[in-house]
Amino acid sequence: MSNSITVLGIFVADLCFIGKKIPSIGQTQIGNDFQIGPGGKGSNQAITVAKLNGDVNFISRLGDDEYGHMALEIYKSNNVKINSVLLDKNEKTGVAGIFIDEKGNNSINVIPGVANKISKKDIDNNLDTIKDSKIFLTQLEISTDITMYALEKAKDFNCITILNPAPARIIDNRYFKLIDFFTPNEKEAEFYLNKKIENEEDIKQAAKDLLNFGIKNVIITLGEKGAFFKNDKEEYFLDAYKMTDKVVDTTGAGDVFNGALAIALSNNKSVKEAIIFANKVAAISTTKLGAANSIPTIDQINSK
Ligand code: RIB
Repeated sequence: MSNSITVLGIFVADLCFIGKKIPSIGQTQIGNDFQIGPGGKGSNQAITVAKLNGDVNFISRLGDDEYGHMALEIYKSNNVKINSVLLDKNEKTGVAGIFIDEKGNNSINVIPGVANKISKKDIDNNLDTIKDSKIFLTQLEISTDITMYALEKAKDFNCITILNPAPARIIDNRYFKLIDFFTPNEKEAEFYLNKKIENEEDIKQAAKDLLNFGIKNVIITLGEKGAFFKNDKEEYFLDAYKMTDKVVDTTGAGDVFNGALAIALSNNKSVKEAIIFANKVAAISTTKLGAANSIPTIDQINSK
């Protein structure tokens, strides 16, 4: 088996509207800036791995249109392998509408477009790629049915599986045992447990409850508070990376965390080292506008 990482997920073009606040229902505000850039959780994760010098295959679909070509360009310049990206002439590449406020918070509406056509056949067509991977990383922006099918295949091939359950969607209980690393944020963990997480005790209990589902390792990401890890042997909180630069945009920080976690694990770092590294890379990504456009290179990370 190689050291490579396969990411299954979607690409969309992020249409970012930057303003003082995220407008509330019925409100119109005059914004400050607008930017179109590469996004989609799976794509952001694959680009993160590539920017950190990882060997990464992306399984997805793109439309043969302006935004699809934007994706191909960024994959080419960052060495994301695209043998498993199907260019569909009949469908449109998706988009996301993103509101960003002056503190860097966001709210997102994703239209997956052509990525909604990703099928079990796409997974079957790429079994050799998955088989040859050390790590299989995915999220929940495509249907859970196909995601679980792919996770089953990856587990059959003994890949280390990482499921970033974003956006949170119902997962049938029988699939949790396929997950080596489950990486929800607090809100996503609340969704799976159907209860509020309000303090450190709640976080610890949430991780314990998630492990009881059959997941092997749980990492609950806590934004500016860092992350909490638990498996059947150990548990610990890890602080967020201390930043000196201003947070501009947190869009994609979770994706960067997952991509960085995957590359660190593929390089045989300990889980603790991998989380510390992922926290750092994710924090640095929040100091620039955009999702994929804000992912730092390994040189930029080492210089911090
Ligand atoms: O996680 C951030 C990403 O979620 C954005 O790039 C947006 O496209 C949505 O998929």
